[in-house]
Amino acid sequence: MQKIICKDYEAASRKAAEILMAELKKKPDMNLGLPTGSTPIGMYKTLIAEGADLSKVTTFNLDEYYPILKSNDQSYEYFMRRNLFDALPPKEMNIPNGEAADPAKECLRYDAAIEAAGGLDVQVLGIGQNGHIGFNEPGDALSVGTNHVQLTENTIDANSRFFASRDEVPTSALTLGLGGIMKAKKIIMIATGKEKAKAVAEIFSGKITTQNPATVLQLHADVTVIMDEEAAANL
Ligand code: GLP
Repeated sequence: MQKIICKDYEAASRKAAEILMAELKKKPDMNLGLPTGSTPIGMYKTLIAEGADLSKVTTFNLDEYYPILKSNDQSYEYFMRRNLFDALPPKEMNIPNGEAADPAKECLRYDAAIEAAGGLDVQVLGIGQNGHIGFNEPGDALSVGTNHVQLTENTIDANSRFFASRDEVPTSALTLGLGGIMKAKKIIMIATGKEKAKAVAEIFSGKITTQNPATVLQLHADVTVIMDEEAAANL
């Protein structure tokens, strides 16, 4: 696993955008896995400022709340349009459908769509305070394929800052599984802020635990973790 420690959030965002733009140069028609959350917003801003070319790219988002209307301003579909796709439309965007009538079927459809597109070339990830990636939460077991998960209290608390009240945070989500993430050819994680320091230290510990899903990344051959000094504080 490659570690890149940057001074602050801005520098980490710029670094992530630079690495991604270099990958886009190599493969302009790549299949690109994208995250939401507050962390990648700086990278998205830099991609927009630099005029990155996504016109040949097929995107697959990591996750979506369930159930949620696409028009809800807290849906990840809405987030992606507002923070990236309105400015830089990709050739095709895919996001798990928070409006699907049957979540289990939607999970299977999503994995099949990624497979049919030829798999993910690059997966960009954030990380939750408890080590969740996508919405793969800590627990006794981790899922391989796209799955319908109940969110932990910790994640509901952390994400409640985006909603008018905690009660409005959806309690479940559809997320790419650990297998789907690990199948990406290249993984770029961005972790910033002191709240992430503990989870980040564990992903360099040499130990894998389902209590920190991101520790599984240690088994992947091509992972770059871009941190700010606060997130790297416990390394
Ligand atoms: C959410 C998303 C994750 C994201 C995490 C961290 O729960 N599902 O993909 O990595 O939160 O969010 P933030 O970047 O806001 O700390």
